[in-house]
Amino acid sequence: MVRQHVNPLSRFYLQPRPLPPLEQLFADPSLPLHLDIGSARGRFLLALAPLEPHRNHLGLEIRRPLVELAEADRIAADLGNLRFLFRNANVSFDEWLLSLPEGRLALVTLQFPDPWFKKKHHKRRVLQPGLLAALAAALAPGRELFLQSDVPAVIEPMVALVEASGCFARPPDDPRPWRADNPLPLPTERERHVLAQGLPVYRVLFQRTTAPVPALADLEAAARAVDNPGDGADPAAVPVSPTP
Ligand SMILES: C[S@@+](CC[C@H](N)C(=O)[O-])C[C@H]1O[C@@H](n2cnc3c(N)ncnc32)[C@H](O)[C@@H]1O
Repeated sequence: MVRQHVNPLSRFYLQPRPLPPLEQLFADPSLPLHLDIGSARGRFLLALAPLEPHRNHLGLEIRRPLVELAEADRIAADLGNLRFLFRNANVSFDEWLLSLPEGRLALVTLQFPDPWFKKKHHKRRVLQPGLLAALAAALAPGRELFLQSDVPAVIEPMVALVEASGCFARPPDDPRPWRADNPLPLPTERERHVLAQGLPVYRVLFQRTTAPVPALADLEAAARAVDNPGDGADPAAVPVSPTP
């Protein structure tokens, strides 16, 4: 049986696990890269990769049994533009992102992340300041970061943190606070489940601007402000200065 959740801060999941270079992952490593963080059983990417052969698709997932099942399906379908890796997105990943050729990362999707509702567990949530800083550094201007969730209490602080970074803007015509539709051609597994119950999905598409990546300490301060809205701290008021 596959566990519902694993603690990403437990010692086993904090072990460094460097990612292989693109050449070892994809048939044509020069294609633009789509990165899906928290790809679970992989059915979304297994359906998307043949629809979008002009991109490589990489699914990162912390639950190893799901990655093994997804990889078996990927091999059976002979998809050279798709890979799944067993990884904690907050460990060893920033170095790999920074090693990507400039402009290669085209799209990052973070869809229906685990909520970790208890305040003391918020540190287990996947979008941490270090990951956001690394994504912002790897995404060239105009490239996209797509977030969606069915839980306002989860997506609102994510959106606030991304906005506090100053590195991303929404397309001017996108409605606020949430996009009306999904820019991707297929729903994820969780999205299907939520929509089938007639429940709302909250979505935001961000585009990387030309703004420099803030210093990590500033982004961490912004994250604390986002996490403590009752304390009167306004994330937008936290001065976020660029990395020297
Ligand atoms: C609620 S599921 C959503 C799966 C899929 N994105 C969807 O929309 O159907 C969130 C997934 O993120 C994975 N995950 C959580 N923390 C992670 C981390 N630090 N690194 C990689 N994957 C993570 C979980 O194991 C889980 O499979």
